[in-house]
Amino acid sequence: MKLSKELTTLTFVLLTLFCSAQNNKQQHFEPGALWPDNNGVHINAHGGGLMEFEGTYYWYGQHMIEGKAGNRAMVGVHVYSSNDLYNWKDEGIALRVSNDPESPIVKGCIIERPKVIFNKKTGKFVMWFHHELKGMGYSAAKTGLAVADSPTGPFQYIHSVNPNAGQWPLNFTAEQKQMSFPKELKSWSEEWLEAVAGGLFVHRDFGKGQMARDMTLFVDDDGKAYHIHASEENLTLHISELTDEYTAFTNRYVAVLPAGHNEAPAIFKKDGKYYLIASDCTGWAPNAARSFVADQIFGPWESLGNPCRGTEEQMNTTFDSQSTYIVENPKKAGEFIFMGDRWMPENAIDGRYIWLPIMFENDKPVIHWQEKWQLN
Ligand code: GAL
Repeated sequence: MKLSKELTTLTFVLLTLFCSAQNNKQQHFEPGALWPDNNGVHINAHGGGLMEFEGTYYWYGQHMIEGKAGNRAMVGVHVYSSNDLYNWKDEGIALRVSNDPESPIVKGCIIERPKVIFNKKTGKFVMWFHHELKGMGYSAAKTGLAVADSPTGPFQYIHSVNPNAGQWPLNFTAEQKQMSFPKELKSWSEEWLEAVAGGLFVHRDFGKGQMARDMTLFVDDDGKAYHIHASEENLTLHISELTDEYTAFTNRYVAVLPAGHNEAPAIFKKDGKYYLIASDCTGWAPNAARSFVADQIFGPWESLGNPCRGTEEQMNTTFDSQSTYIVENPKKAGEFIFMGDRWMPENAIDGRYIWLPIMFENDKPVIHWQEKWQLN
């Protein structure tokens, strides 16, 4: 009799625990809200990207710390895992900054927008990230490479490069390659913009390699991977092919939307077409997003205008966010999710995540605000 009473109590306790665990499980997205991980701590993976591997999603992003200086890399790249995109388990630091003052990734440098892709040929996880050297502001404009045997790391830092040294973009004309530019051009003057569009900065950086700031990675259906980054003083995007191992540039690249001033590139492919969402360049302050479409990844890219729909303010600020990545909806093939950052420059760690569904209206990707939404 006593035993059965105890059993009933135990069952009741277990059931209560189970139900409360279920209740703690997140069942929807709430853009802009605090997003607790499995420990109840706001997810710390800013400027992030996702990678799906064997049915599990991994979210890599910048680990920010408190305060204004929080954007600098004091810890490294944080990684989380999830099976449903709502609930994320803290998997720790995938790439750790170094304490060695001689290391390019020494604590206090800048590591932004890390993205990871899996290479089937080598079985390695390959991370590229926007890398700026400590104490040098944003002048280095390099892309860093790190490699791991497991999705959660530890990633081994290899090196950082200014890509495509000594190579012209595939879409440069013979005339562009011969072009010479007047020495003194006033920044933002019409002549200057024309010179930039003509290849002013590609020429300047031809020998040492091109600038690479805001970046993303994209693996096409044929397994070829591309590194897409803001180059040429953030005036022109470059799309570069990576080698079969994904660990180097093949030197085949194109200059996209010359002098268009696009950054924060995020890309997806739907029904054979490539779509690109990017932002204007206003630092941490949000601005209006832009969208583009192309039949081939190397372009030509055609403008589809601002993808955001809503109030003027929502459209002018991308719902107070900036693009970082686009992932396919795991519950609905052919549907995609926009991932943006609502930066908090005064207290970097408090940055929020704006994930919204991308819909199609008149063959254009559009994004509407949702307070709360679900994958299906
Ligand atoms: C933004 C960029 C961010 C970060 C920031 C620094 O334009 O998208 O990733 O670099 O500038 O001001």
